[in-house]
Amino acid sequence: MTGPRPRPAEAVTGPSVSGGRVDAYDKVTGRTRYTGDLTRPGLLHAALATATAGRGRVVETDTRAARAVPGVRLVLTRLDGEAVRSPGHPAAGAGYGFQSFQPLLDDRVAYRGQPLALVVADTPAAAAEAAGLVRAVYAAQPVAVTLDAVGAETVAQAEALAEPRFADVSTGDAEGVFTRSPVRVDAVFDFAPQHHVPMELPATMAEWHGDRLVVHESTQNTGAVRHGLARQLGIEPSRIDVVSHEVGGSFGQKTWLQSHLAPLAVAARRLGRPVRFVMPRSQTFHATTFRPASRHRLRVGADRSGRLTAVVHEARQQTSRHDLFPADFLTVTSRLYGVRHFHGVQLLTRTDVQTPGFMRAPFEHAAVFALETAVDEIAHATGRDPVALRLANDTATDPVTGLPFSSRHLAECLRRGAARFGWAARSPRPGSTRAADGSLVGWGVAAGAYRASTAPGVARLTAHASGHLTVDVTGHEMGQGLRTAVTRAVAGDLGVPADRVRTVLGDTRGVPQHLTAGSWGTATALTAVHAALRVLRARLGAPGTGPVDLAAAVAAAGRPAVAAEAFTRGPGQPAEAGDRLRAGAAAPAGPVYPEFSAFSFVAHFAEVRVAAATGRVRVPRVVSVVDCGRVASPVTAAGQVRGGVVWGVGAALREGNVPDPVFGGFVHTDLAEYAVPVNADIGRVDVEFVDEPDVRLNAPGVKGLGEVAFVGVAAAVGNAVHHATGRRLRRLPIRREDLL
Ligand code: MOS
Repeated sequence: MTGPRPRPAEAVTGPSVSGGRVDAYDKVTGRTRYTGDLTRPGLLHAALATATAGRGRVVETDTRAARAVPGVRLVLTRLDGEAVRSPGHPAAGAGYGFQSFQPLLDDRVAYRGQPLALVVADTPAAAAEAAGLVRAVYAAQPVAVTLDAVGAETVAQAEALAEPRFADVSTGDAEGVFTRSPVRVDAVFDFAPQHHVPMELPATMAEWHGDRLVVHESTQNTGAVRHGLARQLGIEPSRIDVVSHEVGGSFGQKTWLQSHLAPLAVAARRLGRPVRFVMPRSQTFHATTFRPASRHRLRVGADRSGRLTAVVHEARQQTSRHDLFPADFLTVTSRLYGVRHFHGVQLLTRTDVQTPGFMRAPFEHAAVFALETAVDEIAHATGRDPVALRLANDTATDPVTGLPFSSRHLAECLRRGAARFGWAARSPRPGSTRAADGSLVGWGVAAGAYRASTAPGVARLTAHASGHLTVDVTGHEMGQGLRTAVTRAVAGDLGVPADRVRTVLGDTRGVPQHLTAGSWGTATALTAVHAALRVLRARLGAPGTGPVDLAAAVAAAGRPAVAAEAFTRGPGQPAEAGDRLRAGAAAPAGPVYPEFSAFSFVAHFAEVRVAAATGRVRVPRVVSVVDCGRVASPVTAAGQVRGGVVWGVGAALREGNVPDPVFGGFVHTDLAEYAVPVNADIGRVDVEFVDEPDVRLNAPGVKGLGEVAFVGVAAAVGNAVHHATGRRLRRLPIRREDLL
């Protein structure tokens, strides 16, 4: 099925139009309220002053000028006397913070840009002005902010972290088989740090009602914010409600509890007024997570026909001094193809930065760029066509576990993509094709995969006598289209118009909330909703399928409303996953389940034009074919894939920050310097879905989509650059100077 482009009429006429985004009308007319739009009588505004030293101690803080700014109510430099604790970090067992380090608890400076003071004032302008006037004197120490810096410490992840989810992967005799293979690639790949830069800035509003705290927070994880703040403030989680109805993009930036939340809650309590904070773009580069730098040595062996024999993958990833942000590069490089001999090891290098975090396909993007570049080299070395070589290395069995895949249509993605792209017309020799304007033309292909995880989830459906239905479900709307997928699933099942269904996401006042990430959101929510629909039908005395007259059925029950609830979890997942869900902890199952391994798959085909004189690379067209199981919501799914392709072009050609080895932190802190693709950078993006339901994985047959869409795009672009120029580039982003 081809991803349809929404017709203008569909995009603006609202929820009842079949197939469109149910929230499109509100979004395009500006009715949608994001956290930073919320207001209250007596609302106060917060701003952060941040550290200009890269590491050391604060000797003295001067807040006199800040406090003298008219309208300033509070300048908080220490959470003195509040008994605030660290939120903990998830990798160290139980924890809720993106980092365990909580600023404002002591005089330590762990990284440049860390919060130094929270200023609260009557207006955002007064708060920002005052924050800019906070001065500190530091006892500074030298910083280590790169993988190679003096003072950066490297540890073996397998020894430092006991978590089995992040274990190294080994099977067979990879070193030995590699050494004996007639065709070998041995290469090092380097990735610069990147930042999520979603359109919506991190935003929070904290308000106390007596001893109850309500936090409106732009987050993918209201459950962790609730439980993390409860731990930090020493109060019962039941006294905290967290609401995140709309997130304007996140991509992992808003995964865990942010460092400014506890200070904001303390300030709101002291002042007895609601306080709102919107983080300026410039601060997001240091005050939230990022995709850390990583380096990969990959050795790939093959026989003379291009059959892959062995892969050895050594990966090293940057983390902070205070936390181990775990790496998971090996899950994908060990399973993209049927390679029986695999050996992987992961190292973490401690540096003086904020703790990095998950950013869309956190590991798969880099790991697959490395593997798919190496596989392309093997195709070149053996004289095989790159698509044919990938097809020849496909597998129906997970080579690590020996289990079948729940479903795997990678070959179909490659075949359909090749046909749609016109791959058969490719001239194999690099540099052999020129466009009319003299630029070199290159065509590249890459495959990708991403684990199909499932989280525990709860859905509660409430049918009202009016014929309307309310859905409360585990999950957050970040723009990916979860509200549309859930609303349309419920409306379609019961045969009611979508505008009678109200779906509430990201609200701890409803059902328990789990982190929505790792591309498990739609599969998790739809599985819970599917189960709750069966319960609701039984309660209403309705048949198992077919349209239901809700108003009549509720009236017949003799009550104003009839509710039904279901709890679901991943195949084979123990019931204790529900305890973790209710404690705000992450509990994803997969990709290895008791009877199968589950992944989504993709094939990307990219065309590049490289200007010979300037090295400028353009990407006029990309074809992407995805196996994400059943396509739950065609319009939003196609949008996710286009967004993933744009990300891939950015990752290949634009996005990368530069650590500052002298002052610490990152050099680029705005969108003028941290370049993301703009409209003129993106050509035609054709999206197609295999659309085969994965019924072994869950009843709706849905795998994940948000991340797999981006995996392999940069590799397809890089392989196209090789085809255009003969240059094999192993460092991202690719710069013009690399091609001159
Ligand atoms: Mo995603 S990086 O799991 O939000």
